[in-house]
Amino acid sequence: MPSRILTLATRNRHKVTELAEQMPPSWKVQSVANIAGLPEIEETGATFLANATLKAEGISRHVPGLVLADDSGLEVDALSGAPGVYSARYAGQPTSDAKNNEKLLKELDEKGATQPEQRKARFRCVLVVAEQGKTIASFDGTVEGHVAAELSGSHGFGYDPLFIPDGYTESFGSLSSEIKAHISHRAKAMAQFLSWVARR
Ligand code: IMP
Repeated sequence: MPSRILTLATRNRHKVTELAEQMPPSWKVQSVANIAGLPEIEETGATFLANATLKAEGISRHVPGLVLADDSGLEVDALSGAPGVYSARYAGQPTSDAKNNEKLLKELDEKGATQPEQRKARFRCVLVVAEQGKTIASFDGTVEGHVAAELSGSHGFGYDPLFIPDGYTESFGSLSSEIKAHISHRAKAMAQFLSWVARR
């Protein structure tokens, strides 16, 4: 029987599923998408930490218990860290994974970055936990890899069909969700969060 409530400050159902799957059964996990009357928090920060903090603190002023917010994205070295905090809206509004991926391939082509070592990238996930409007903890997880020359696979979301993690030859779009759940940026940040929760 769930005894504690964790509210996830994200409306992205892929993230909710990935995060909820990893929480112990003693927690009731809910998403802001299922709670009426909450403010829409704009991601106006310049860093993943700033954006996750805005969301966690903003939502925790309106719901009891712990609020967990994440901000995540892809950092590509040859593009000076872009798309970074703009990962979701890289190709503009309305947001489109297909257009973002197309733009990423075009930008790397224009840089002449054709070899895997010229296309080094990482997914980064920052998690912030807040309660009653104040941050009480934060965690940072990354997975290193490179941007593939072309899309492959149909699993996951976002840049998954283009991201090949180090140590693998297939993209996150082709690798099973079990493998991604073990090695991803979000899984690593989540593992830190879970061990923090266990110590509380
Ligand atoms: P956020 O919702 O502001 O955190 O934006 C995250 C964006 O970064 C997503 O819309 C994706 O484009 C990208 N992203 C973050 N995590 C992943 C992932 O695990 N796979 C693929 N793309 C991701």
